[in-house]
Amino acid sequence: MRDFIAGLPKAELHLHIEGTLEPELKFELAARNGLELPYASVEQMRAAYTFDSLPSFLEIYYEGMRVLRTEPDFYDLAMAYLTKAAEQNVRYAEIFFDPQAHTSRGVPFDVVIRGLRRALLDADTRLGVRAQLIMCFLRDFQAEYAMATLLESLPYKEWIAGVGLDSDEKGNPPRKFAVVYERARQEGYLLTMHCDIDQDDTVEHIRQAIEEIGVDRIDHGVNVIADLRLVEAVLERGLGLTCCPISNGHVSDGMKAEDIRKLMDLGVRVTVNSDDPAYFSGYVQENLEALQGALRLTRDELADLERNAFEIAWLPRHLKDAYL
Ligand code: ADE
Ligand code: ZN
Repeated sequence: MRDFIAGLPKAELHLHIEGTLEPELKFELAARNGLELPYASVEQMRAAYTFDSLPSFLEIYYEGMRVLRTEPDFYDLAMAYLTKAAEQNVRYAEIFFDPQAHTSRGVPFDVVIRGLRRALLDADTRLGVRAQLIMCFLRDFQAEYAMATLLESLPYKEWIAGVGLDSDEKGNPPRKFAVVYERARQEGYLLTMHCDIDQDDTVEHIRQAIEEIGVDRIDHGVNVIADLRLVEAVLERGLGLTCCPISNGHVSDGMKAEDIRKLMDLGVRVTVNSDDPAYFSGYVQENLEALQGALRLTRDELADLERNAFEIAWLPRHLKDAYL
């Protein structure tokens, strides 16, 4: 099965570029930028990656990205991921980035996006991996800061496929960003947002995302299975879910494989993705292997998962068809 999965052409739709920052590159960038790290070695750093909740993960995630300072840093980060993606036969990736995690510590927006964009162009020509960017707002910051970030992104609109919402969900419902999302839609951005696994009120957040915001997709969203009326809405609107099995195990009590199975059986367009692979130890290949192992997925079912991913990708029809 491993070889079958390796051979499948894949689309990755839920991947935080800052979550691909491997310890080795973190040390390299720290040295380049003259920064001290609180770990003596790569091994020691990896050993400190212990989290059992979304907030405990986020603390280490934000701490780690302080080494990203310059345009070449963001280029190297994205190029490292896209090289790994090409090795795993990922043909297309939609990549989240968190501009506020950088602008809030003094790194200009244009430094971030120019570095990422240059890597995407090089990966297309050199590696044969197509990729697009999705700009995420940090939901634990004020909506006004998200709006300012949205406005700052407008000169780069052609480089950004859509907007997302991530970070700590507790007390930060989709509704908080309704005005920002309305403006993003008017500007032509497609819309997605995280409704993370087993967070407080996450089912209500899924409801708001669908009914009040009118998202085009939901990131995670597996808790929708708790409300069959909402599952109906997901089916009716053809919304895809970008699930991340290994990540689920790090922020909740397990991979949620059985819930994912139920959603697949109900006909929901489920996809398998890697979220923050440098921290959760698993890129898309390992996530597919983990889910296959838990559910005994057949080759046809694995192929269906990748078909779903290309189907819900934010690409024009003729480009999807070229992958399918
Ligand atoms: N930011 C990066 N990874 C995230 C995740 N898994 N959930 C919420 N915010 C994130
Ligand atoms: Zn995520």
